[in-house]
Amino acid sequence: MKAKILMVCLGNICRSPLAEGILKSKLDTTYFIVDSCGTSNYHIGGKPDTRSIEIAKNYGIDISKQRAAQFTVAHFDTFDYIYAMDASNYKNIIQLARNSEDKQKVRLIMEELYPNSGMEVPDPYYGGEQGFEDVYQMLDKACNRISERLLRARI
Ligand code: 4NP
Repeated sequence: MKAKILMVCLGNICRSPLAEGILKSKLDTTYFIVDSCGTSNYHIGGKPDTRSIEIAKNYGIDISKQRAAQFTVAHFDTFDYIYAMDASNYKNIIQLARNSEDKQKVRLIMEELYPNSGMEVPDPYYGGEQGFEDVYQMLDKACNRISERLLRARI
């Protein structure tokens, strides 16, 4: 069975679309399903932010065909690993969890690299281009670690 990984931020237009694109680029999609969504309904059906599309393109990744969706409780049934970008996303997801099994699926993505650090991927929406580059670099490192662990099936 394919392992299923969900990336979650607030709007699903800046951070989690990048996380989805980056992780997909590191995994064989024959064996893994990677998707993303947002905890809010702000941008449902919308394209990723043009700044995220551009940063991804600079690194050879096309995220332009993604469309924003909202996190729902049904995602706990579909996905094995749910990665929150920041503490607020984490809290919003956990609030929808029905039981400990749901809760155990949810992690702060940067804690894959820095356990128990509480490190967050900052929201770049109201900032400049550099914020998107910084987010890309953080997510690239986190996704390297996630893909290594998934490939060793020890996540
Ligand atoms: P994201 O960034 O959560 O990384 O997609 C945001 C995008 C939009 C908004 C906030 C954050 N917004 O308030 O519309």
